[in-house]
Amino acid sequence: MTVPILTARELTKSYGRGPDRFDALKGVSLDIEPGESVAIVGKSGSGKSTLMHLLALLDTPGSGTITVDGTAARSLNGRKLNGLRNEMFGFVFQQFFLNPAASVLENVVLPLKIAGVGARERRRRGMEVLEQLQMADKARNKAANLSGGQKQRVVIARALVNKPRVLFADEPTGNLDTATGRIVEDILFDLNQNHGITLIVVTHDHELAERFQRRLYIRDGLLITTDEEHAA
Ligand SMILES: Nc1ncnc2c1ncn2[C@@H]1O[C@H](COP(=O)(O)OP(=O)(O)O)[C@@H](O)[C@H]1O
Ligand SMILES: [Mg+2]
Repeated sequence: MTVPILTARELTKSYGRGPDRFDALKGVSLDIEPGESVAIVGKSGSGKSTLMHLLALLDTPGSGTITVDGTAARSLNGRKLNGLRNEMFGFVFQQFFLNPAASVLENVVLPLKIAGVGARERRRRGMEVLEQLQMADKARNKAANLSGGQKQRVVIARALVNKPRVLFADEPTGNLDTATGRIVEDILFDLNQNHGITLIVVTHDHELAERFQRRLYIRDGLLITTDEEHAA
């Protein structure tokens, strides 16, 4: 038996209080094994992003537990939690969150700067991932001057620069045209299949979801656990 890289037990999350309270997650449990590719699928507003933010330790649940590679997230203080997140996870969001005025390389190495890695080593590792994504020739360009597909590749490079074990992506192709989106998808699946990175992708695109080993369907803050139930 392998240890799941990620487990969640009975996660809940509510926004607002009193009459404005909205229960976005109502008790979600799941296990994700190392090296899996998993799609989290559901309509807009079903709780996909909320779930992903909890799993990625970017937000804390109202109740329930998250375990990362055997460590209970709740047992860690802020600094250790940040360390675990930076060491284990990479993130790709629909909005690129790039600094448009900074160069491509500067954007990519930002997580290393935060982690206190020296300038030389930052540059070496930044160029390495840019080469992997065939963006090395754009290293000195300002991020503002890139196409959507190029921006998303820079975002993926930034997500990879810490050599994460899990890559989270929230609607990663949502702002891209079909052909460019397909290229970005192929990059994500290559990272999963050929580099062993666990891939967890939020999407409402059923065609994209079909490319994953497994799909988790979410509706109104609850998982409909299996493909069979969803088909029924
Ligand atoms: N910060 C917030 N404050 C209040 N409501 C929120 C907040 N974030 C999300 N919600 C609500 O929670 C529900 C789930 O949101 P979300 O997880 O973003 O859904 P999805 O990603 O599936 O579209 C939605 O109804 C949304 O309006
Ligand atoms: Mg969302």
